[in-house]
Amino acid sequence: MTLITHISDIHFGSSSFDEDMFLKFVDEINDSKTDLIVLTGDLTDNGYYKSYLGVKEYLKLFKHPILCVPGNHDSRNVGYKTFEEEIGDRNWANKIIDNNTNKILLLGLDSTEPDLDTGRIGRSQQKWVEETLCSHFTENFFSIIALHHHVLPVPNTGRERNELLDCGDVLKSLVDHDVNLVIYGHRHVPYSWKLEETLFVSAGSISSNKLRGKILNSYNTYEITKDKVEIILNQSDDSKIVLGNFDRD
Ligand SMILES: [Fe+2]
Ligand SMILES: [Fe+2]
Repeated sequence: MTLITHISDIHFGSSSFDEDMFLKFVDEINDSKTDLIVLTGDLTDNGYYKSYLGVKEYLKLFKHPILCVPGNHDSRNVGYKTFEEEIGDRNWANKIIDNNTNKILLLGLDSTEPDLDTGRIGRSQQKWVEETLCSHFTENFFSIIALHHHVLPVPNTGRERNELLDCGDVLKSLVDHDVNLVIYGHRHVPYSWKLEETLFVSAGSISSNKLRGKILNSYNTYEITKDKVEIILNQSDDSKIVLGNFDRD
């Protein structure tokens, strides 16, 4: 079994950053058998250099390897450059598992635009995604795409302005290429959709107090075996809810 932990929207540098909440989840995740943590953006609240240095110290508390993509807040104030310097590439492809029993390909995308809240993948990045997926197709990889902005609308997120500007093209491309799992954050609302054979899952915020209604801080976990995938929502009140599961053919 491969266990992937999906966290999002830390918002370090904001008065809404709840340090106690973050540390509670760090302990919980460190106690788990997760193989990898994926962080889908908004590490910082305003992309400031000092905020990146600050959030890096918090990320070091995790025992497990962590891969990150930037969020709209991270790309403010030339934060997209600081992200590359202090965190890593803004998009990347990783074969996280490649053995006889399981093959998992994870792609991280940069959906941000400097100083704008809107998201876009863009044609050149989309082409790179398609080429990378096609080159692994015959090897039967389980494919996961991680980005910040929504690819499908998420209920309870208010007026719809959170999807990628090019979400129609991206959605068609991901479904046509039989991507297994698409994960994102942004509006701090956990939810999952299944469209054709692809699962689209948003994560809540791990540590921001900016929460809508009675939504709690949370993170998602994905348990991937050769036969099935189970998606669990792990909330701050210690409740665990199955967001979805499906069989792998
Ligand atoms: Fe956010
Ligand atoms: Fe965001």
